[in-house]
Amino acid sequence: MDEDTNNNSLIIVPKRVERIKLHERISHAVNALGFLLAAGTGLVLFYKGLKKLSGGTRSRQLHRVGAALMISAPFFVWGKDWQGWKKTWREITYFSKEDREFLKRAPMYMLGFPVKMPPQGKFNAGQKMNFLMVTFNSAGFVLTGGLLMLRRHLPEKAFPYLIIAHDIQAIVGICGFMAHAYLALLHPDTRPSFRAVIDGTVPVEYALGHHALWSESQKHKLD
Ligand code: HEM
Repeated sequence: MDEDTNNNSLIIVPKRVERIKLHERISHAVNALGFLLAAGTGLVLFYKGLKKLSGGTRSRQLHRVGAALMISAPFFVWGKDWQGWKKTWREITYFSKEDREFLKRAPMYMLGFPVKMPPQGKFNAGQKMNFLMVTFNSAGFVLTGGLLMLRRHLPEKAFPYLIIAHDIQAIVGICGFMAHAYLALLHPDTRPSFRAVIDGTVPVEYALGHHALWSESQKHKLD
């Protein structure tokens, strides 16, 4: 804790530690914006009845703007720090014994039961799963969406399969997004991490409680 004196009153300012760098936050924001735009306009394309409600906006063009934002998002990270990205990818694709135990206990934790979770590194096993789901689902969107854009050059019978695959990806993506938003905005235990996507920091107590193994490696910054 830092102490700040103001007019003889003592204000305790909780100490914070950096978790997400600026280029990672920009990438996250661009991806979120693109996803929400693509999801919103995708629903209009899916359910034509929504077209009336959308005031006749150009859903198809906006859907492609959302797609372009999603595709551009990882380049903010790849372009700025390729080595850092490779390290993050190695961490995200490695599931330790603690991670596997974390996943077993995660459903009860998400429902709000007081479950003791095993110590975690910079990313907990749930964040790893979310990251992998977003990566592979986005690659799927690019593939099926890209083929849908080229449909005039493809055999006609491919169209329904591409649409069904794209729709399944939309359902998986929207469910994953809702779980992610619930943890970031509503769950009382994980909500304090939300500011990290804006200014990159979390409270030190949060880092110690939720990412004990990572905090150990950041000790020099926490003291
Ligand atoms: C890189 C990303 C994406 C690309 C390239 C892409 C491309 C496309 C294309 C070309 C269409 C057909 C539109 C038309 O001309 O009628 C389409 C439809 C659609 N997209 Fe995407 N899309 C992407 C991401 C997304 C995302 C993130 C979602 C939702 C979370 C989504 C949901 C939908 C839905 C629901 C439809 C309507 C399908 C139907 O008619 O059943 N798309 N998309």
